[in-house]
Amino acid sequence: MTSQEIRQQFLDFFKDKGHKIVPSAPVVPYDDPTLLFTNAGMNQFKDVFLGTGTREYKRAADTQKCIRVSGKHNDLEEVGYDTYHHTLFEMLGNWSFGDYYKAEAIEWAWELLTEVWKLPKERLWATVYRTDEEAFELWKTKTDINPNHIIKFDEKDNFWEMGETGPCGPCSEIHINLTDDLENPKYVNAGTPECIEIWNLVFIQYNRDENGKLHELPAKHVDTGMGFERVCAVLQGKNSNYDTDVFMPLINKMVEISGVKYENEEDKIPMRVIADHIRTLTFAIADGAVPSNDGRGYVLRRILRRASRYGRKLNLREPFLFSLVDILVETMGSVFPEIIEKQNYVKKIIKAEEESFNKTLDRGIELFDKIVSDLKSKKLNQISGEDAFKLYDTFGFPVDLTNVMAREIDFTVDEIRFNELMDQQKEQSRHATKDKFASVQFAINNLDDFVLNDNHTSIFMGYDSFESKSKIVGLKKEKETGLLVLDQTPFYVEAGGQIDDHGKLIIGEQSLQVLDVTKVNNRTVHMVDNHKDVLLDIGMDVLASVDEERRRDIMRNHSATHFMHSALRKVLGTHVQQAGSYVGPDHLRFDFSHFAKLSHEELVEIEALVNYQLRKNITLEHHRSFPFEQAKKMGALMFFGDKYGDFVNVVQFGDFSMEFCGGTHVKNSSEIGLFKIISETSISSGVRRIEAVTGAGVERFIQEQFIKLHHSEEKINELTETKKKLEREISDFKLKENLSQLPKVLENPVQLNNVLLYSGRVNVSNMDELKSFGDELRNKIKTGVGLLASEIDGKVGLVCVVSDNLIKEKNISAGKIVGDVAKLLGGGGGGKAHLATAGAKDVSKISDALKQFEQIVGKYLN
Ligand code: ALA
Repeated sequence: MTSQEIRQQFLDFFKDKGHKIVPSAPVVPYDDPTLLFTNAGMNQFKDVFLGTGTREYKRAADTQKCIRVSGKHNDLEEVGYDTYHHTLFEMLGNWSFGDYYKAEAIEWAWELLTEVWKLPKERLWATVYRTDEEAFELWKTKTDINPNHIIKFDEKDNFWEMGETGPCGPCSEIHINLTDDLENPKYVNAGTPECIEIWNLVFIQYNRDENGKLHELPAKHVDTGMGFERVCAVLQGKNSNYDTDVFMPLINKMVEISGVKYENEEDKIPMRVIADHIRTLTFAIADGAVPSNDGRGYVLRRILRRASRYGRKLNLREPFLFSLVDILVETMGSVFPEIIEKQNYVKKIIKAEEESFNKTLDRGIELFDKIVSDLKSKKLNQISGEDAFKLYDTFGFPVDLTNVMAREIDFTVDEIRFNELMDQQKEQSRHATKDKFASVQFAINNLDDFVLNDNHTSIFMGYDSFESKSKIVGLKKEKETGLLVLDQTPFYVEAGGQIDDHGKLIIGEQSLQVLDVTKVNNRTVHMVDNHKDVLLDIGMDVLASVDEERRRDIMRNHSATHFMHSALRKVLGTHVQQAGSYVGPDHLRFDFSHFAKLSHEELVEIEALVNYQLRKNITLEHHRSFPFEQAKKMGALMFFGDKYGDFVNVVQFGDFSMEFCGGTHVKNSSEIGLFKIISETSISSGVRRIEAVTGAGVERFIQEQFIKLHHSEEKINELTETKKKLEREISDFKLKENLSQLPKVLENPVQLNNVLLYSGRVNVSNMDELKSFGDELRNKIKTGVGLLASEIDGKVGLVCVVSDNLIKEKNISAGKIVGDVAKLLGGGGGGKAHLATAGAKDVSKISDALKQFEQIVGKYLN
């Protein structure tokens, strides 16, 4: 029987028993902050179990993609070393929502296993929770299991919980014993591949709160989960899940690309690790996660690196993981079409990560070598826990790799300290996730009686107005704060990137500031300040009012995000997928898949396209509670995070943008004013981030730019002044240096009719300098005529000076003399009697001209 057939038989079996077959939820649970990844089939029904949500059916079945790599259910370290744990697996499940209970669950499970699939009854064992006499008896009466094969276990094995908090209850598991020792109970729950759990039937009846307290749920439910890959192994007679047709195509491909045979355990381990991990990576990325440095993305990055490192054990050094995606798509795409749709995108992301990891790995090896050489110089041979941790944390070296590398050179690793540091990190991340839920949890704990006994939703009025006349329907007073639930409210609670509203609740004459809002199930809880003096009671009228200006800014940014999303896809291509967003009053941020830095031209084009559209005065078409399928057909863009209810909200701006979105938007594109991109950066390989502003934000941005410009102008003026000053200083300095040329000119004056003539060639860089030379010359000679020539920028510069006595007595003029000299050189000039300058072209004749100086002066003396 093929795995495809096995899956189908399970679904058909439950369909015949009145179950609605539903699609698997994405592995990224966008609407449950208590989970990093979907870890069980029941996750998508959590609200039904808690009594706060409903479905149109009371029985459901599906195959759910589950990832167990963090939190309460974490199998990562086992994976690859054993043959039956996986980071991603399919969980076949059937559910009853307050409908059938233990009897049917047990009876049907037995029927499917032993009558449809004909598993040998003598190999099957049932476990029940130690106090669950009801289940114990049902196994005896509803099935023909060997009564000696029903055994009791305690909480650890037979009380199932989704996470630290959430729905839970006693469970009954079915195990299969594949040893020859058929009557020995010791194999059950002993953690051996020869006797494994294949199906877990959970009887959900409690909710565990943050303090660990169990609360009875309004109704009792059935939640079952069967390990699909395990059942395939059993039904296909394989010892290992990896030997089934679920994994073999991947393993065959690895054999092909590495040239290593799938024979020795040593080679099988890396192949199993890789075959497992590529599934997790592909499904998680297809569902919208991306490798990064925190949270979910960090877990993915770790998994990818683990796979990549194991690849090196098969001598696969170049990126290769991405090439396995095609094989996976071939084997699983028909059941999970999302991986077909995202095939190229997933490959690109994985390849980019592999490339960057290879670089990191090389740098890690460098660090390792440095650590070792430092230790050697100190004659030590143990790598400290800190260093091992650094290798792990920064370079993705798991401690076993560090150990192997250390052993090769007879070094050891301080694993005790390493583990301490690991524990510290785990503790920190546990706290980090807890904080995020603190206010939600606080509200849940404080309002649970009310909320759990209430099936209503708070009506959201904020799409059309900024205030609403509401009634208090739930209330809890604490020391400093109060929690209020209203029948209807304009307050938006953070979702889809759009942040919470601010505002107040007005009761009579008094006004309470809203400190925080949060959603508990479908109720909006308003946390208010200082309610001590305000009389509050159930049924009272309240005017709920959000800060309108702030909200309008938020709406501008939210709608602009949609316009930009569409523009990005038009300019860059439809591979652009939203990977996250922030929409606040001050700015917006949009993360999306794209593989290169955006060029200046692209950014300009995107911005221009958005602004062009905004100016078109496009009216918002807000389709509320629109049939999901119809919206999909219309081509509305979908963010992986949207919960696909049967009815959705679609936000449309003409034919330019249409998206599934629960947020609030402007009624017309013109309200946005202007859109301006202020930055474009990379947040991880293949994911870019754009930050932008709109409306008043652009105004602020322009103001800031003006202020900056003004400051720059001032700065430039200042610099120009300083520059001038420095130039002056330099030229003074140069002049002083240059003036040392003068003594030569002064040395040998020519005497002509008792008049002293000084002349010579000097080296100056401009006419001003030459003039200064003239002045200086004139100062130095008490009586006489002087002529200086210099080459300046390829031309001739001349200056002539005449002492005062000669002007008076002989009526000689510097202007005339210099004009005559210049003429000889093909130029001209003139000026005053005491000092005059001239310019000419022919540099080659400077010496000749100087020679003629005597003659010219002589002409004027006569
Ligand atoms: N929710 C149960 C499990 O995950 C069926 O094992």
